[in-house]
Amino acid sequence: MIVTTKELFKHAYGNYALGAYNINNAEQTMGLFRGNVQSQAPFIIQISKGARKYTDKRMLEGMIRAADEIFPESIFAVHLDHGDEETCYDCIDSGFYSSVMIDASHEPFEENVAITKRVVDRAHEKDVSVEAELGQLGGVEEDIQVAEDKAHLTDPDQAAEFIKRTGCDSLACAIGTSHGAFKFSGSQSLHFEVIEGIRQRVPGFPLVMHGSSSVPQEEVARINAAGGNLKGARGVDVSQYLPAAKMGVCKINIDTDGRLVWTRVHREFFIEKPEVFDFRPVGKVFMEEYANFIASRNELLGSAGQLEALRAALGK
Ligand code: G3H
Ligand code: 13P
Ligand code: ZN
Repeated sequence: MIVTTKELFKHAYGNYALGAYNINNAEQTMGLFRGNVQSQAPFIIQISKGARKYTDKRMLEGMIRAADEIFPESIFAVHLDHGDEETCYDCIDSGFYSSVMIDASHEPFEENVAITKRVVDRAHEKDVSVEAELGQLGGVEEDIQVAEDKAHLTDPDQAAEFIKRTGCDSLACAIGTSHGAFKFSGSQSLHFEVIEGIRQRVPGFPLVMHGSSSVPQEEVARINAAGGNLKGARGVDVSQYLPAAKMGVCKINIDTDGRLVWTRVHREFFIEKPEVFDFRPVGKVFMEEYANFIASRNELLGSAGQLEALRAALGK
């Protein structure tokens, strides 16, 4: 069942975080739904601009509608990840998305405010909620590459002003993470003081953590042993997910870790079975492994086991 992002945040706030997982194809979609039903967790499906271009945006929408029928127990929201203004309007007008992210964090503050406010005004007319971003994460996201020295943490005073002036519904803040498999050139910890600073100024306001993949070292080792080259890859310490959630981080974005599962499964499969040239046997292994991975993340986020309570709270 597709619900609004607002309903999910209301239930999660201060207790647990929703896993926000990106999808690109059918196997990823099946694994995602299986893992969330297996762990009885509500979740957020994220669609990036790159994913919309990969096959066709209508293909993603069709897969999600089909999965909703195949897994009637599931409760989730559909979200545009890292949108520009034009893509936000396309998603808002489609009537399919629960929420959009307008990412104008690379713009100067006043320009970020102006762009975000325009998107918020248009989104709210259609009851779509808006995630905005302030501060800058390092790493790669689609066609934008931000060097570590250009990344900067969110300033809590500016965040409070930004939220008030734009009317956005949630805020992605930079707290030391970065996108991709190579995070933290220095210490591996999150800047909880930034989250706390925003919480004090805007109590009850939902925050979002991007770049949250943990880059499991066992996964990296297996990929490298099977011919990969991901030396020095590392991610967020998973023991920091729940403390962040308790401080108001309602949405934790995880994409890279899923790509690592895909890479490990495919590399190992074809090394072990060099005679195989069919995509279904390896696809089956991936769907199962991805489902297990999703379930394991939901345990760490505290979203596992929340479906029943959420359904009661929604009266559905
Ligand atoms: O932050 C970016 C997400 O991991 C999506 O990546 O733009 O390559 O689909 P993508
Ligand atoms: P990771 O690259 O850490 O998975 O972050 C994903 C993300 O933030 C998507 O918006
Ligand atoms: Zn992101």
